[in-house]
Amino acid sequence: MLKKHSYEDILINNKVWANEIKKQFPDYFKELSEGQSPSFLYIGCSDSRLPLSIFTQTTPGEIFVHRNIANQAKEKDLNFNSVLEYAVFTLKVNYIIVAGHYDCGGVKAAFYGKAKGKVKNWIKEIRKIYFKNRDLFKGLNEKEACDKLSELNVKEQIKKLHKNRIIKKAKKLELCPKICGWIIDIYTGQIKEL
Ligand code: CO
Repeated sequence: MLKKHSYEDILINNKVWANEIKKQFPDYFKELSEGQSPSFLYIGCSDSRLPLSIFTQTTPGEIFVHRNIANQAKEKDLNFNSVLEYAVFTLKVNYIIVAGHYDCGGVKAAFYGKAKGKVKNWIKEIRKIYFKNRDLFKGLNEKEACDKLSELNVKEQIKKLHKNRIIKKAKKLELCPKICGWIIDIYTGQIKEL
């Protein structure tokens, strides 16, 4: 079922898909090109196993997306803050979803303390979450512990969002979207609300 396509394959796939859509729904791309009005901002992990539109059965134009390793919502990340500001004040999304997932490479690297280079720096806050909450990990095997850390990481990013200046401003103006936490359970394909 899962495949490994070549670079050429994906370009051909695109042409076949675009032609097929145009045949079935002649106005599809015209509608798409008229602009976006998504209801959701999704803050998720870069992991390749999480194609959002497949997991949520949504269509183009529904979800504004920010992804990075281990779904971080860092107050000082210019990229993230630009996305957040635009989503809240221009697109006026109704929901912000912070989505972690089980078997997250970034979270596992934080758990084992094995990351190198830029990634080590990027995920150092996750390692702190682990050390701050050691009690919650008692009796768990390594896989369970990493998955628990994925959950705590989502909760931590939500806390950070509530402290974020953009969100504080949005709350004052009564423009703050509902903030939700998800774990995508990669073992079952199901989304769990936290
Ligand atoms: Co991940």
